[in-house]
Amino acid sequence: MELKKVVGPIYLLTAMSVFSNCYYDNRQDLFPEITTCDTTNVSYSADLLPILEGQCLGCHNNSSQQGNVNLEGYDNVRAYAQNGRLYGSIAWLNGYAAMPPAGSQLPSCTIEMFKAWIDARAPNN
Ligand code: HEC
Repeated sequence: MELKKVVGPIYLLTAMSVFSNCYYDNRQDLFPEITTCDTTNVSYSADLLPILEGQCLGCHNNSSQQGNVNLEGYDNVRAYAQNGRLYGSIAWLNGYAAMPPAGSQLPSCTIEMFKAWIDARAPNN
């Protein structure tokens, strides 16, 4: 009798903490070994440009060039891809300003996609 009274709440608390811990995690953090990040054939226009537009161009466009950086247009992006500052900033490498400046780092797969594209000589694809 007494045992049931104790085990019940303990079970409930354990279950609650397990589920609340998982609730905010994403799939890639929880199961890195079964989640694949496809970095083959990364497309500048289809894969990367939407991220730049959503996360970066607000501060780095023709009329607002924060940090003196303009990422509007492929030619500008390629220049930052080739001088290492694009990757250095999104990968939060030492010696580079961490981008985006507020909030969290871009998802790791997104960073890997940028790297694969840069390593492929930043094609306009
Ligand atoms: C809220 C405005 C803002 C956003 C959004 C933003 N940046 Fe920046 N960025 C800045 C500022 C300000 C600097 C200059 C920071 C400094 O020099 O410490 C900068 C600097 C940079 C630099 C130069 C880094 C260096 O150390 O050479 C690069 C490259 C860059 N940003 C790329 C990006 C990319 C890519 C994104 C999107 C993932 C992004 N930024 C989003 C404001 C922003």
